[in-house]
This record gives sequence, structure tokens and C-alpha cells, in this order.
Amino acid sequence: MPHNNCGPIGIFDSGYGGLTILKEIRKALPQYNYIYLGDNARAPYGTRSFDIVYRFTLESVKHLFNQGCRLVILACNTASAKALRTIQQHDLPGIDPSRRVLGVIRPTVERLGEYTSTGHVGIFGTPGTIQSESYDMEITKLYPGYRPIGHACPMWVPLIENGEAYNDGADYFVKQEIFRILNKDPEIDAIILGCTHYPLLYDKIRRFLPEHISLIPQGEIVANSLADYLRRHPQMESRLTRSSTGDTGSCIYLTTENNAKFSTMASLFLGESINATTIEL
Ligand code: DGL
Repeated sequence: MPHNNCGPIGIFDSGYGGLTILKEIRKALPQYNYIYLGDNARAPYGTRSFDIVYRFTLESVKHLFNQGCRLVILACNTASAKALRTIQQHDLPGIDPSRRVLGVIRPTVERLGEYTSTGHVGIFGTPGTIQSESYDMEITKLYPGYRPIGHACPMWVPLIENGEAYNDGADYFVKQEIFRILNKDPEIDAIILGCTHYPLLYDKIRRFLPEHISLIPQGEIVANSLADYLRRHPQMESRLTRSSTGDTGSCIYLTTENNAKFSTMASLFLGESINATTIEL
């Protein structure tokens, strides 16, 4: 499909969550073409083992590479925590060392200092992300005096994947996890939504969270970090396809689930009408 060694930017998530990252990336870098892949048929990833998350993520990355992507963003904290490093170090050199796979955890942590004054930082994430302690390790590496407090919210992704994010029933599960994390450490003054699905619950989380606690905007941060990466890597930038007319580039949506179902839900989350295609991995 692509020509001259150029291709779109691939954005991968287990399901709908990565759309929150895609939206911010397209806002910051509208000129490029994108392919979004949601592995909805096998979501959620957050309760799966390392091996499975790695295998599913690698299959998805390979699919995006076959579609011509030179650069793939794992717009999924669980995949960034459990698969990114192995793919970068073990798989990429054999597949094509000129291609890149980037994650969302490191760029988010790099900006933490702007959001906390107590250094007590909460992380809401999937059980997989929290158990991996990837955030804790990155945070203590970059900010040795900080205190990361990880907290898993196992019900949040299923609520979102099943279209319940905006309904009243979700309030209970949101309130409960806020109560629990603040019980672990009342000095928390910033929280990372360490799962790309969670911004879809943003309004509810903000409503039930004490006002002085900031919510760290991962989508915006990842988008800015990608823009910066492309400025620093002109050889990669020159291999990205863009809109031929000079305006907004295209975005192709792929899902491993039913495409009509994905299109309805994704249109709702993105606030624009989209048409997805079903693929098999
Ligand atoms: N959106 C993904 C994340 O950021 C994972 C959700 C899931 O599949 O459990 O962690």
C-alpha cells in the first residue's frame, strides 16, 4: 500500500482507549496519515499475563507494519508496561531496525514535576499496569524523592468497552476507587490516569475527586512528546505520509471485533462519524 518507504503513523490499543491518545495526536499533528488498530475482540488486556499481552501486542504491531507504518505508538499503558521493551529490544532489530515503536509511560512520567508539589502521585491503571510497577520504576528513576501510589481499577475498562462510561451506574465504581486510593495516601495531589481508556470517564472522575488534586492529561502529553520526537528525528519524519492536499491527513480505523459496533462506539467517543474495518490478526 505505501510507496517510497513512507507510511502512516500506527496507533495501537487493546480497544477504544487509544482513541483518547489518537484524538490529541491528530490535534497536535493533523497533517499526517494515521491507522488506528483496536484489538477489541481480545480486550481487556489489563487482566492478562505478560506473555499474552506481549504476544497480542506484537501481532498488532506486525499488522501495522504490514500496512506500511514506520512508526507505531502503543497507545495503551498495559502494552507499554508489558510488551514495549521486549518488542524494542528483541523483535524490532530482526523485523526492521529502521522502524520504531514508542509507548506512553515514559513521556507521561517525564512531565510529572509540573503537576505535583507534594510528590505523592497516584496512578490509576489496569491490574496489569499496576502489578508491573512500571510507573513506580520510571517515577523513582526520574524523581527519586517522589512517592508513587499505584491503584488498580479492574472495573473501569469493562465499563467503557461495554458502553457504560456515561451512565449513572459507573458513578459507583469511580467513587469507590477514588475513596480507596486516597485512603492509601491522603497527601496525593496529582493522579495519572495510567490507562488510555480512563479519560472516557474523565467527567465522572473529576466530579468525585477533591478539587486540589490534578489529573495528568496523558493524551496531550503523549501528543507533544511525539511532536518533539519527530522534530528530533527528521529521518523518521520524512518517512511519514501526509495529506496530499495539505490539510488534515486521513485516518483508517481497524478493529478485530465487529466493525459496525466499533464504528458506533468510536464515533461516540471521538465526536465524529467514522467507518471501521474488521481485520483478523
Ligand atoms: N487502554 C489500555 C491501557 O492503557 C488497556 C485496557 C485494557 O485492555 O485492559 O492500559
